[in-house]
Amino acid sequence: MPDLFSSKIKMKKSAKNIQAWKSVSDVWGSLKPPLRPSPGEIKIYERFLKKTLSNNSSRRALLFGATPELRDLLAKYKFEVTLIDVNPAMVKATTKLLKRKNHREKIIIGDWLKIKLPQNYYDLAMGDHIIGNVNFKKWNHFFSLVTKLLTKNGYFLTNVQLSFPVKRSLAFKNLIKLYIKNPKRFNDTEYKWQMLYQMMYSDKKFCGNHDYMITWPAIPQIQKELKLMNMSMDIKQIAQLADYIYVKEFKYCSPPRAIFEKIFKKYFKIVSSDINRQHPVYQSYRIYLAENH
Ligand SMILES: C[S@@+](CC[C@H](N)C(=O)[O-])C[C@H]1O[C@@H](n2cnc3c(N)ncnc32)[C@H](O)[C@@H]1O
Repeated sequence: MPDLFSSKIKMKKSAKNIQAWKSVSDVWGSLKPPLRPSPGEIKIYERFLKKTLSNNSSRRALLFGATPELRDLLAKYKFEVTLIDVNPAMVKATTKLLKRKNHREKIIIGDWLKIKLPQNYYDLAMGDHIIGNVNFKKWNHFFSLVTKLLTKNGYFLTNVQLSFPVKRSLAFKNLIKLYIKNPKRFNDTEYKWQMLYQMMYSDKKFCGNHDYMITWPAIPQIQKELKLMNMSMDIKQIAQLADYIYVKEFKYCSPPRAIFEKIFKKYFKIVSSDINRQHPVYQSYRIYLAENH
């Protein structure tokens, strides 16, 4: 969800996006990687998290979003957690999925870009795919906010979706044809999202807009394309391809790696970064461990 909270005119749009996340929360439990952290990524998160413990961390974490897998990990390493998410429905839905109970988890319903929390307090800031939800124009604001909340040697641990050069471009209509030809192949969510990303990063209808925004294909877009193709498809089948089934519009900020790192490095020193190599779908995700400057 982009940062659309700052002006009254944009307020409506922001409410629409919060609504979108509310709808996502209904189906969150049934979503699979890569829309949730994969086991391979959790291993990377854990390896990096352990590195943050070395300089006598007092284990105070600030978690952006309510990702259950990250909350379980923080509970495992006995962190005191402040979780901040704008959407209570999402917090409720994800809390049901927790495997470990953390009695030291405090939940704040609020906007990341407007947080008022103790400065120079957290040893770790963490979040899965958070920066893509922030409008590119607000990245400097968000990063500078995070640096202030972190202690001097605090860490930032996050997974970022970066755009990647597509070797073989895939037009939206060809992806739909591929799906119609072999819908069962798309039951494999990693394969499905590999195809969707290949399409999203190569079909100009979904990328190439300003500020590195990419669009997730949702039901209305698929219906529109089918109409152009003079074809029809069962709504359940369309929803199966869309995944974020109720979401009308979902845009996400996903710049190339060099652009992301250039801005990120103004605020943090990158300690390490890694990707899950078990499936090509993860080629556009990169997990960063960075230290406060
Ligand atoms: C962390 S992100 C990405 C989802 C992630 N891959 C996961 O597995 O949880 C999704 C969450 O961020 C929250 N969110 C998005 N923008 C926000 C903002 N500006 N302030 C607070 N919460 C926000 C949404 O409500 C949603 O719960």
